[in-house]
Amino acid sequence: MSSTSTCKSLSITSDIQIRVIKPQERQQVLDFLRIHYYLEEPLTAGSEPKQQDKEDEEFNMSNIEHGTCIMAVLKGDTNVSEQIVGALMAGPKGPHEAEHLFEEAAGLGPTKWGHTLQFLACVERDANICGRFNVEKVLHVHVMGVDSALRGHNIGGRMVEEVLNVAKRLQYEMVSVDCTSVYSAKIFERMGFKCINIKYYKEYIDETGKQVFKPEAPHECVKTFALKL
Ligand code: COA
Repeated sequence: MSSTSTCKSLSITSDIQIRVIKPQERQQVLDFLRIHYYLEEPLTAGSEPKQQDKEDEEFNMSNIEHGTCIMAVLKGDTNVSEQIVGALMAGPKGPHEAEHLFEEAAGLGPTKWGHTLQFLACVERDANICGRFNVEKVLHVHVMGVDSALRGHNIGGRMVEEVLNVAKRLQYEMVSVDCTSVYSAKIFERMGFKCINIKYYKEYIDETGKQVFKPEAPHECVKTFALKL
């Protein structure tokens, strides 16, 4: 990398601020995630149809009301205009999360989001975060997306640091996440989270024996991580 581009990249990342998403920013965040998250997230991109369901978007956006969702914004020259360059959606979960997910998946039936929730319910049941650690108030990270032009600059890591601060402030006992991507898993590993469970996509098959989620390489499993606060 030339020294000019190094300086430019340093100045871009220092102009990026990390903060909690406000309820009135819902639509801008959704527009951002439609481009920089849903098109690549391994469960969404790795199953047909490729287009995410409305219920998937609504669930993720509903987490904003908890005050536990984070965004990264690039400040313009005047410091007034802002461009979203990252978003992390997190919400509370408790000891009955797996049952809730199985129920919701059953209610949805064979839709894309129904299949995804069924899979995430199995992941939740196997990881058993609340039972395993004897905790009741856990903040779970559901979504993480960074502007594709700005990946590899630790913007994801900075959003995780902020969600940890928010979780401590709101007296959560743990933060957990199911990393469907190898890139997000690297962030949580680096930040000292413990890997609790691994579920391989090739082992998750439907009643006809077909693999349900077939993401592109290098994504081959979901890794569940947790950190006690
Ligand atoms: N290609 C190759 N490597 C990539 C990459 C890409 N597109 N994006 C990130 N990485 C690598 C980084 O080099 C880094 O690896 P390292 O620790 O070995 O250096 C690691 O992934 C994390 O990088 P970091 O800068 O901390 O994170 P980020 O700001 O780039 O954001 C994601 C990471 C996962 C949020 C981002 O890749 C993304 O938005 N992906 C699409 C949506 C998605 O799949 N989300 C995760 C679902 S759980």
